[in-house]
Amino acid sequence: MQIGKAVQNAMNDQIHKELESAYDYLAMSAYFAAANYSGAAAWMRAQAREELGHAMKFADFLEDRGGAVTLKALSVPTASYESPLAAFEAAAAHEAVVSASIYALFELAAKEKDYATQALLQWFITEQVEEEKTSRTIVDTLRQIGNNTSGLFMFDRELGRRGQAG
Ligand code: FEO
Repeated sequence: MQIGKAVQNAMNDQIHKELESAYDYLAMSAYFAAANYSGAAAWMRAQAREELGHAMKFADFLEDRGGAVTLKALSVPTASYESPLAAFEAAAAHEAVVSASIYALFELAAKEKDYATQALLQWFITEQVEEEKTSRTIVDTLRQIGNNTSGLFMFDRELGRRGQAG
């Protein structure tokens, strides 16, 4: 069954959010690289790639359902943060906003009796639980580390391991 217009429009908005997320994370990566946090920079790069993957997943789905992908302009991302903690706080807050948007899309799909979209969104709902948890955990750790330079150094190395994996 071809995708309905309301769900198609909302999904195009979601593609835009995912691409803006990728853009935000790429900017955060550049911020960390410039501040010599190569591990956090790699982590943010991996996150940017994941967000691109999310956008592609929605785009593929729209095309599979006979819908049209409509792209919009991206806004200029924040280039600088007060601290590594501030950057990850922004990331965590952003993920909460993305989750709310996925839930709204699910509600619309349910209202429109679009079962295929609901099935796709199940994957995203689970993914958001993970994304929110990960960013929240990093924020908590950075709060504990505070201004401890060697703690920050060690944690940056740990973040770099995920960057290599993702
Ligand atoms: Fe695609 Fe981080 O939400």
